[in-house]
Amino acid sequence: MALFDKKKKSETELPENLPQHVGFIMDGNGRWAKKRGLPRSFGHREGAKNFKKIVRYCKDIGLKNISFYAFSTENWQRPKDEVDTIMDLFREYIVDVRNHLSENTRMIFLGDKSIFDDDLREKMIKLEEDTAHYTEMTLMMAVNYGGRDEIANAARILAQNVKDGEMNPEDINEESIADCLYTRGIPDVDLVIRPSGELRLSNYLIWQCAYAEYYFTDILWPDFSPKELDKALIDFDGRHRRFGGV
Ligand code: IPE
Ligand code: IPE
Ligand code: MG
Repeated sequence: MALFDKKKKSETELPENLPQHVGFIMDGNGRWAKKRGLPRSFGHREGAKNFKKIVRYCKDIGLKNISFYAFSTENWQRPKDEVDTIMDLFREYIVDVRNHLSENTRMIFLGDKSIFDDDLREKMIKLEEDTAHYTEMTLMMAVNYGGRDEIANAARILAQNVKDGEMNPEDINEESIADCLYTRGIPDVDLVIRPSGELRLSNYLIWQCAYAEYYFTDILWPDFSPKELDKALIDFDGRHRRFGGV
């Protein structure tokens, strides 16, 4: 296969067959800090910096849909000061995002927004609305996101629709469920990338990852470089996906 794309800014020759949706599980910030004798908050700050770098790189190499797991429904169990640090970084990002994101990037937040303060939630919704017409790349950020929570939410929406007489139970199928997920209209995840050495999904996009390929590396998220992403994409290109067929 020809291994070069016109708009690639990569030093590596990347495959033409890029995944339609890459999901990043940004793990390992705490261990990154610990290794350096620093508080965990430093790791989160460094992780946030790297997030911006990787987003830019994804756009440069022409990825279409990218999602990032930033904070799970389970992460609320962490010490309050750590949760506060992550939420502060998130707030900072929401304010700064227009400087960071280049034109033509659509932004979507995955997760239950109802938990956030009104002002933050309104900013998130405004950002989604203002960028809804952009088509070059869709950037999804999962905050207060849980895959089971997302599916339970979809079930609630569909039950209400049935109750209101808008649909029948027989109309509930894979398509109507997918339409009630936060990723509505976005292709399923083709490739999940999880740094930090953990070999699990941790409740990330469990419906959308039904046929995803997985790429694990021991590198911690703050150190996950564009070169490392190139490696994952080349690895993905070599996978034989069967989707249950032969
Ligand atoms: C990922 O890094 C960030 C969040 C889960 C919010 P961690 O904070 O989980 O880092 P480790 O796994 O403790 O190293
Ligand atoms: C997954 O990382 C969640 C995010 C990266 C936001 P965790 O660090 O919370 O996952 P576990 O606890 O190791 O499974
Ligand atoms: Mg972790």
